[in-house]
Amino acid sequence: MLTIRNLQVALGRTPVLHGIDISAAPGRIIAVIGPNGSGKTTLLRAISGDVPYQGQIALDGHDLATLKPWELAARRGVLPQAATLAFPFTVAEVVRLGLTSGTQADRTDLIARALAEVDLTGFSGRYYQELSGGQQARVQLARVRVQVWDPVQNGAARWLFLDEPVASLDIAHQIGVMRVLRGFADGGGGVVMVLHDLNLAAMVADHVWLIHDGRLLDAGPPARVIGGPGLAKAYGCPIMANQMPPAAATFVLPHGLWG
Ligand SMILES: Nc1ncnc2c1ncn2[C@@H]1O[C@H](COP(=O)(O)OP(=O)(O)O)[C@@H](O)[C@H]1O
Ligand SMILES: [Mg+2]
Repeated sequence: MLTIRNLQVALGRTPVLHGIDISAAPGRIIAVIGPNGSGKTTLLRAISGDVPYQGQIALDGHDLATLKPWELAARRGVLPQAATLAFPFTVAEVVRLGLTSGTQADRTDLIARALAEVDLTGFSGRYYQELSGGQQARVQLARVRVQVWDPVQNGAARWLFLDEPVASLDIAHQIGVMRVLRGFADGGGGVVMVLHDLNLAAMVADHVWLIHDGRLLDAGPPARVIGGPGLAKAYGCPIMANQMPPAAATFVLPHGLWG
């Protein structure tokens, strides 16, 4: 269980998150949505233990502030919004970074499996810098996956905290990644990810957290949150929710575009 109580974060002198209360159960996919600058990345960095905060964050009953770096690395993998590399690493070397930052550095078999998962079999020896943006994003996801491969370890759920993991991916690879995440959640792991694409969020998320101006504006099942009135308010533009037969999946479209 991920528990967030009265979470407040200031970056520099700027208050960014103003008291967020929410919890997430493992076995589920949480999509964090909200407009640019609303605080999604800051929230993800806080639960990842990467930014100082006030309030409480607990991962499966352990106060985040008391977990040692290696304990944190064993429990959760983090995909930041933008990852840059200063050195000419090969694809396999980048993925291996996930193994060595985790607690199972001996499991080198996972490198090929993680690359296969993101459809990059055969790319191990290629230079990371010479890949497309979408391919690089998939390498980064493989790096995070090898860090927390099994969704449950020693009886404890593991977590994937992902910031816009599919923003630069084509539709087939977006679906491929979503399948990987669904498998991880079905295996008992927790997934919290920032998603820009509201329709993808509606399709894959079990729960949606809608962030607006550093506050949680709404949270709940996607059909209610993405189909609800809070969405237009948060994004500041008219949005029409629809149901797609036959599965009654919710999808949204902007409307009244030209006045
Ligand atoms: N290092 C920083 N110092 C001050 N303000 C920041 C910093 N990084 C981000 N912010 C501000 O915090 C707010 C939330 O940013 P962020 O969490 O990245 O938003 P989102 O991911 O929802 O687009 C924005 O208003 C942004 O300008
Ligand atoms: Mg962001």
